[in-house]
Order: sequence, then C-alpha cells, then structure tokens
Amino acid sequence: MFVDISRELKFSKLDHLFVLLAEGKHDDLSLPDPIRKIVRDAAFDGRADVVVTILGHEPRKVTLIGVGKSDALTIRGVRAQLTAVGRIAKKHRDKSIGVIFPYAQPETSAVADALAQSDYKYDPYITVKKDLKRYPIDAALLAPPSLDKKSVAQLADHARAIAAGVNTVRDLGNTPCNVMTPERLAERAQEVSKDAGVKCTVYTKRDIEKMKMGGLIAVNRGSDLEPRFVVMEYTPKKAKKHVALVGKGITFDSGGISIKPAEKMEEMKFDMCGAAAVIGIVEAAAKLELPVKITGIFAATENLPSGSAYKPGEIITMMNGKTVEIVNTDAEGRMILGDALHYASSLKPDHIIDYATLTGACVVALAGDAAGLFTDDDALARNLIHAGERTGERLWRLPLWDEYKDLIRSEWADMKNSGGRWGGAITAAVFLKEFVDCPSWAHLDIAGTAYAENESPREAKGATGAGVRVTIEFLQSL
Ligand code: BES
Ligand code: MN
Ligand code: ZN
Repeated sequence: MFVDISRELKFSKLDHLFVLLAEGKHDDLSLPDPIRKIVRDAAFDGRADVVVTILGHEPRKVTLIGVGKSDALTIRGVRAQLTAVGRIAKKHRDKSIGVIFPYAQPETSAVADALAQSDYKYDPYITVKKDLKRYPIDAALLAPPSLDKKSVAQLADHARAIAAGVNTVRDLGNTPCNVMTPERLAERAQEVSKDAGVKCTVYTKRDIEKMKMGGLIAVNRGSDLEPRFVVMEYTPKKAKKHVALVGKGITFDSGGISIKPAEKMEEMKFDMCGAAAVIGIVEAAAKLELPVKITGIFAATENLPSGSAYKPGEIITMMNGKTVEIVNTDAEGRMILGDALHYASSLKPDHIIDYATLTGACVVALAGDAAGLFTDDDALARNLIHAGERTGERLWRLPLWDEYKDLIRSEWADMKNSGGRWGGAITAAVFLKEFVDCPSWAHLDIAGTAYAENESPREAKGATGAGVRVTIEFLQSL
C-alpha cells in the first residue's frame, strides 16, 4: 500500500474511509465534522475489534474500527487493527482509502508504516484467482493538526523508508528456496544497494576459500550451489559511529547429515531471514540518510546432506583460527556466523549486532512474540530493548554467562558446535561470542519472530520483516 500523510482528507476522492477509535469520549478528538456526526449516530463505543461499515455519500463507505481502551493503545495493537484495514480494503477492492487515527500515541510515522504493510501478501507465484492478487491501494493518513507541512512530509518519507526495508525483508524471506539461492540473495543485495546508493561487495567461493572462512566452507560442502559472502557499506559524510550488522543467510536448512524431520522442513527457506534483515536495514538507513556508518555483512549457503557434506566427528578450523568439533551438522548457523562475526570484528566498529534464525530453543522460550537478545554490554541491551518497546518489536534478554561454555567444551577441539538441548539458545550465543572481538556486540535470535507460521490478526503468514524497525530506531538514538 502506498501511504501518504495528509493534513486534510478529500472525502470525494476516497472509496473508503477508515476511522480508528478507542473507548471513551470522542468529543474532544480532532475529527472532521461529518465523521463526528457518523460516530455519534452509530453510537460507536470503540470496543476492541468492533467494526461497523456505514454507507454514505462522500466518502461512499465509512468503516469505524474499535481499538479498545485509549490508555492501553500500543503499536502492536494498532498494527493489528491496521491489518484489518488493509484486509477490508482489499476485500472491497478499494483503490483509494483514507485513515483517521486521532491519537498522539503510537506516533504518526509508526502508524503510517504499519498501514503501508497492512495489505502485504507475497503472491508472484499465484497463477489462479488472479483477481485476488496484490493491486495498488493509495492510502492517505490524516495528520495530527499540530504538525506543519514540512514535518508531515518528513514523517511520510520516514514511514516509507521503513516500509520499503520491511517489504524487502519479507519478499526476500518469502521467495521460494529454489529461487532465493545464495547467488540470488547476493544479487538482490547488490540491486538494493545500487538503488539506495550503497557500496556492495560480493565474495565468491574462491574469495571465501582465500579468506579461510572454514565454517562457511564446511557448511557449504553439502550443497551443489556456491556460497556467497556479502559486504554492504553505507558511509555517510558526518558519521560519528560505525555499526556492523551481521546476518545468517542459510537459504535452505535441511539440517545436513544430522537431517531434520520432514514436517515443516519447508519453513527452513526462512533460514536466511537474518541476512534479509541486514539488507532491509541498510536499505532503510540509507533511504533515511541516517548519520551513522553502517556495514551490512552476511554469509549465505544452503545446508544439505551429500557425499561431500560436512559430518559429525569432523574438526573445522574457523577463520579466526579456533577449532570446532562438529557434533551436529544442524547447528550450521553458528558455523557461518562465527566467520562473519570475526570478519566484522576486524573492521573495529563501535557496535556489532547480528541477526539469526539460530535456534529452535529460542522459539520454545519466547514463541513468536519476542526475539532473544544476548549481550554483555548493559547499555547496548537497554538501548535495544527500549527501541524494541517503542517499535513493538520486542526483545527479551537472556544470559551469556561464561559458565555455559562448559556445555560446549570438546575433548578434541577448542569447542564443539552444539551443547545439546538444555539452554540451546544460550549455548549458541556463547559459541558466537568466541568469534567476536568487539566490546559492544549483541546477538538477536530471531528464529521465532522472523516468520509467522500462520496468518494472524497482526500479520500475513510468512516473513515478518523482523529486525528492521527496532534497529532503525536504535540507530537513530546513537
Ligand atoms: N535454523 C535452525 C533453527 C530454527 C529452528 C529456526 C526452528 C526457526 C525455527 C538452526 O539451524 C538449527 O537447526 N538449530 C538447531 C541447533 C541444535 C542442533 C543445537 C536447533 O535449534 O535444533
Ligand atoms: Mn540448522
Ligand atoms: Zn539453520
């Protein structure tokens, strides 16, 4: 959906107007007069999820949507209500809609970017029922009266940059894994970079071998497709800080020789959502011209079984020289991230943040409602959690204590690549720490948040764009 923020809605030009109202008095809200009358006539009380559509003259349709108690308005709740707006508009085949959200919180630009995503559906491969395919909807969100023209335009640009980044991540994640190969993912990074004015370097298998990225090479051995290692550099002139973002780009994770059960294995096409997040964040940051230097880094390969695949019992020497005993080839994300984090550390950034659909254990702990956050830097934790609260992209901190290293101790090598079931998300993070040389590093385990297993009131099934909003919010606070 293309979203603009307007200081005035031209009712005659709208197919459909949506008004989101909380419980309580509506008299002191800044509503246009005809709408005030409709709300009063309908005796609309704003209870959550109550939806009333009224046929009128201009605009022809007005839908009132209850959003519940006004003191409990959160961006997560409002996002769900806006998803209803997108779905209703699509069912009605509306081309031009208006949206009124007459509250100061959540902020107008967050509401606008949520609206922009509200009709999202990944449908390039739908060849039947073509009429249900995505078609362009123009939406105008009414600006709060306190804002002048310039700030309204700025907010709209901001919302569109975020929405573009989120959209990129969702499309990359949802693309089938026979198409979104490591090579294609790298190519997409180049295309996005070119469009956003960012430098992008793609390293091929030969380069990766030369750099001695032992973890990435080991995981790639089972695949017929070449791996890729990608570095995107956004370098604004007045940057004071440098942040490196690192992503896991497993374009399909079968588990390898330690093969996964068949059920839901198709979901492992989403195992590149960390890399996708890095691409989307760099895109949004560049479009917003954030005054922070950002290096986006990701490693991409498939994880498959074959005669040449890496196997349990092997010892692999990583790029930083440390050795890893393989006990489970399904713990492949940490192998490729170990090298990518070492590479990132060599750039000496102020902060490193990595994004990875790393462990099922994190999903067991937090389900789809929060990403796991691991860091030794308390200030970084505070800032990221705060950014998460503001954007509705929740992060929940889990420990990174050295005691957990015992669980990945190996008899034969510096460590093993899996600590077993107990504390699985933590031992994975502790493993990654062995490859980080940066005082301020955070690991986000987005295994539960990167994709939705089912359609829900808040979002479509599939990739969610996790990582973009929280990170942009954090980068803006630097
Ligand atoms: N990509 C998976 C983690 C995952 C699981 C993401 C479910 C999303 C949903 C990862 O590579 C993996 O297989 N992790 C193993 C680690 C184990 C072998 C130590 C896991 O979580 O079971
Ligand atoms: Mn795996
Ligand atoms: Zn994986």
